[in-house]
Amino acid sequence: MNNSTPYTRFRAGSLQGLISMLAVIMTCSSVIAQKDSTGTTNPVTYDSFSPGALWYDTNGELINAHGGGIIYANKKYYWFGEKRGRSAQAGVNVYSSQDLYNWKPEGLALAANETDTTSDIARGCLMERPKVIYNEKTKKYLMWFHLELRRQGYSAARAGVAISDKPEGPYTFLKSFRPNGNMSRDMGLFVDDDGSAYHIYSSDENYALRLAKLTDDYTAPTTRDSLLFRNHREAPALFKYRNKYYLITSGCTGWTPNKATLHVANSLWGPWQLSAENPMKGPAAETTYGGQSTFVLPVRGKKDAFIFIADKWNPRDLKDSRYLWLPVQLDTETPYVNWLDKWELKFFNAAKK
Ligand code: GAL
Repeated sequence: MNNSTPYTRFRAGSLQGLISMLAVIMTCSSVIAQKDSTGTTNPVTYDSFSPGALWYDTNGELINAHGGGIIYANKKYYWFGEKRGRSAQAGVNVYSSQDLYNWKPEGLALAANETDTTSDIARGCLMERPKVIYNEKTKKYLMWFHLELRRQGYSAARAGVAISDKPEGPYTFLKSFRPNGNMSRDMGLFVDDDGSAYHIYSSDENYALRLAKLTDDYTAPTTRDSLLFRNHREAPALFKYRNKYYLITSGCTGWTPNKATLHVANSLWGPWQLSAENPMKGPAAETTYGGQSTFVLPVRGKKDAFIFIADKWNPRDLKDSRYLWLPVQLDTETPYVNWLDKWELKFFNAAKK
């Protein structure tokens, strides 16, 4: 029997181990962020998506934008998401990209308030699932997010709203509230073709999914606020395809992945019908490939091209949660998602409809 502990085994081969570890670190860093003779960083350039793999920004740092959403503005995509650290959450990060593969960090779009402990967004609060929309009338960008107040766990269940003149921010916090008095946790925003915007949110301890039409300036909910269905769903991701509204949601198991469902409706107000018990196909489809929906992105300039975006949460180290980006496939009556190890946007050119 070999009674050496991993520690003594490590010590025995420590020099060799150290050398190979250094070699690995040096190889990785030279791939991730090479410096040329002028000292400029030349990070890896992506030309495809690898769902679930480590994904570095153009500075060679891991992308830190969880539970996120994306808008297209000024000829760029902007990706907003939770900036996660080991314990605290510092706010909402934003990245920009022209090709959806390579993302430039633009810093914090909305920072927690570091000085005023009475602020709704005082350091220690949680700002989850941020989504941004643009208001054509006011020319403002509006960020909505799920807000939990500092030191109150998940009991506040509020929506927060922030505003900016520029897509990348910085955003100014406006207010937080329970929409029409309802609890509000996981959420999404949706702007319809007529410019009306909606807040879709998990309410009533996540047993109810509700929809509220926003005011014309998108800064508040109107009282047009109704129950979509009551079956304990969260992580709503809404998209419109051929005049129908589709809604992907997850079950409610915290950070642990579960099965997604797809609902469909002719009107946002319903009735919403179950369209697929599970719109995911392929390996690990029963747990949404280990992820949870956050957003469906319509690809600019491509007809009927949508990317399903999910978070593969790592609750032990939330910033190391991975991103799952997969194409929504539309070659059958019911949209679905299939697993792909690696894919490119040209997938949509070849896709049958
Ligand atoms: C999930 C939710 C996440 C986060 C998490 C906390 O159900 O989708 O956004 O709030 O719970 O446990």
